[in-house]
Formats: sequence, C-alpha cells, structure tokens
Amino acid sequence: MAFSMEDGWKPFRIKVVEPIRLIPRAERERKLREAGYNLFNLASEDIYIDLLTDSGTGAMSPAQWAALMEGDEAYAGSRSFARFREAVQGITGFPYILPTHQGRAAEHVLFSCALDPGKYVLSNTFFDTTRANVLAQGCHPRDLPSPEALDPESPHPFKGNMDLGALESTIAEVGAGKVAMIVLTVTNNAFAGQPVSLANVRAVSEVARAHGIPLFIDACRHAENAFFVREREPGYGDRSPLEISRELFSLADGCTMSAKKDGLGNIGGFLAMRDRALFERCRERLILVEGFPTYGGLAGRDLAALAVGLKEALDLEYLRDRIGQVRWLAGRLREEGIPIYWPPGGHAVYVDAGRLLPHIPPEEFPGQALACALYLEGGIRACEVGAAMLGEEARFQFVRLAIPRRVYAREHLEAVVEALVRIAEEKERIRGMRLISGEGPLRHFTARFEPLPD
Ligand code: F0G
Repeated sequence: MAFSMEDGWKPFRIKVVEPIRLIPRAERERKLREAGYNLFNLASEDIYIDLLTDSGTGAMSPAQWAALMEGDEAYAGSRSFARFREAVQGITGFPYILPTHQGRAAEHVLFSCALDPGKYVLSNTFFDTTRANVLAQGCHPRDLPSPEALDPESPHPFKGNMDLGALESTIAEVGAGKVAMIVLTVTNNAFAGQPVSLANVRAVSEVARAHGIPLFIDACRHAENAFFVREREPGYGDRSPLEISRELFSLADGCTMSAKKDGLGNIGGFLAMRDRALFERCRERLILVEGFPTYGGLAGRDLAALAVGLKEALDLEYLRDRIGQVRWLAGRLREEGIPIYWPPGGHAVYVDAGRLLPHIPPEEFPGQALACALYLEGGIRACEVGAAMLGEEARFQFVRLAIPRRVYAREHLEAVVEALVRIAEEKERIRGMRLISGEGPLRHFTARFEPLPD
C-alpha cells in the first residue's frame, strides 16, 4: 500500500499558538477548594489541559478567520446570513432556517412554539439543556435508549440508537396525541457520544409519520455520526459524510443544532424545519428572545465563519483525524486497565468512575470525585456526566474527556493517560463528595461540593 492520508496522518499544521501552563499542586488544591469542588467554577488560566467540553472550544481554520473579516454586520438582510443559510440548506435540505446564538436557544424557541404543557417528548437520550428546555414547557421528557447502550462493553456499532420497541410501547401507553415530538440526539452525547444508524433513524421516522408526530434531530454532532455510518453501516462505505448527513436530515421534519460542535464555531446555532406555519411562529419568538431573523443573536462575522466551518466539519480527512484522536486516547486508557465506555464515540472518552472507584456509591458522586482528582493530579479539567449532572436518572457515573476540535496534540493526550494511570494506582485514597448547594436539572453548573472525611 502506498503511503497515504488514509493511514491517519495529521491533516493540518499549527499556525497560531496559545501558551498554557500547569500551576503548582498546592495552588491547584487551593483553587479547587475555592471553586467548591466544581470544575465549572475554575478559571481557565488555572487549567493545563481543558477537556470540559468540545463545545465552542475548537480552533478555526484560516478560511474561517478570513470569512470573519468579511462579516456583513447589517441588522437586516446581511450577506453573511445568506451564506450561512446557503450552507445550512446545502447540508440539511430544510427550507426554513433561523440562526440562534447557540443550541439551547434553538431548543427554547422550538419547544416554546411546538409544545403544549403536559405533553411527552421522546428521545434516544436528551442532553442536559434539551431535557431542561422540555421541562421548562411543562412537558415530560422520556429517554428510550437502545438496550445495548446500557452495557458499557457491548461492541454494538450503533449504541446511540433509539429503542424502537420502547418507542412503540410508550406511544401506545401515553397515546399518540400526547406525544408532541420525537428528538433524536445525533450522536448520543449522554450515552458516550455513540452513533445512531440511518436504519434506526429511518425506522423512527416511519413510526413518527404513522402517528403524525414530528421528528426533530438534535444535530450538534451530525458530521461525526456520518463518519461512523460510513465506516460501520452496510451500503454507506463509499458515500461522503455530506451525502450521509443529507440522508439523515431528509428523514426528519427539522433540527436544532449547536454549531459550537460540528459547525467548528466558537459560538452559534440554528433551528431548521419544513413546516411553514411552525416556522412563522418560531420566527416571531426568535425576534423576541434572540434578534432579527437574519442574525438571531449572532454577529454577521460569526455567521460568516460558521458558513465555512459547517462545510469543513464534513471533510473526511478532518473527521478521520478527529475521531482517530478520540480512539487513540480510548485505546491507551483501555490498555492501562482504566474502565471506559466501549467502543468510544465521536467527541469524547467517557471514563466509568463507577467501575474505577467502586468504594464510592453513586450518592457520593464518584464521577465528581474523579474529575476533581484529575484536576489535582494533572491540571486537567473534565466534566462529570453522572449523579451530579443527571441526578437519579444517571445510569452511569461518567467523567467525560471531551476533545476540542483541532486543538490538542498527542502529547497532551499522553499527559491525560499518565494522570489517570497515577490516580488509578492510588484510587483507594479518593473520597466521595457531599453536595452542599445546588438544585434543579441544571444544578451541576453552579453546585458546590466538599470531600467527605476519611
Ligand atoms: N444538544 C446536545 C446533544 C449537546 O451536546 C449540547 C451542548 C446542546 C444540545 C446545547 O448546545 O451548548 O450550544 O447551547 N453540549 C455541550 C457539551 C455544552 O459540553 O456537551 P449549546
């Protein structure tokens, strides 16, 4: 075989550098204490490697920076909006597009126009803000993940799928008239960023149509999902990520998207749909809470950069490198015997703190304890996705190591492996946590904790 990019060589070099440093251990201890053992309360300058999220933390390309300079800041009818709309329509095929400042604003606008109190909204799994936005409309969110997702070792290729049997039985149980919407989260962030197969989307879409229920895609990571479909789903091996994403969207009535993920933007999102009457209601609402429909809470320059980023995120070499990085980290941690959710998904490695720290029960927040230990050990910031974030709904006690796009090199990830290996060697010394303050579905952003005594 010839030496080629398919061997996984890096498809970019570095143009701008941002200094980072590891502050001394005693400083890290003090900062963590002052932050109430909540990593959201830490200052970025006190962090060495920041894996809190892959949202809005990516590096832009020269083409995006150039687009930024061309941003048209007109209040109405901006040229940048025209480019953004063209890019979104080219990928999704949806005729009606509304820009929002980020994904949750798109969720809020859509749900406030499409949901009536008391209705059910069904999903493969909601992410935190999506669930909170459903609850805020007085509706009931229900997660229907596939049974394979509950097994952290099952090799199933599409563990992000919705459970079709549970979908049918839930509709039968509550009545189709009470189900206001189905939301497919692609990839399934709360379940370790696992992909959803197009066969599953097609089947969900058929059920939705049969009952007259609108199907929306929570599309933050649709490009990563397309990569997995191309790799794993029979019949898609020679289709481009763009063709696969187009097929995904063709099966739905609309989507919300945080363009801070697969839009390669530092801010931005959108809401897109086919239904004109719903669009007109959402447009009214958008003007009230976000801004005029040709900017929707964003500067023209942000729209311009996103128009470029949305296309770059579908580049096969970019996706191979990105998902390859996540796989490399997952493979190394597995080799070292650190329990992780397997196989790894697209944007993050999910360390299973429940299995790594069996001496800490869920009510003592093993994920939060491990995330704090990781900061103390290596100045590394990760995100708990377990009892602190999801309460009793949490099926796993995860610490998510989310990889920002085009930002870190393998050496950074080696440091992460090293830190986790050292923690595992002395894991019995890690104590559980007590929640001191914080309540509601978004408590994890502001909660305070303290370590339990020995
Ligand atoms: N849906 C999913 C699946 C997400 O992962 C997120 C954000 C949102 C919606 C909301 O988008 O942040 O632009 O308002 N997830 C980030 C994360 C915050 O860290 O996973 P947003």
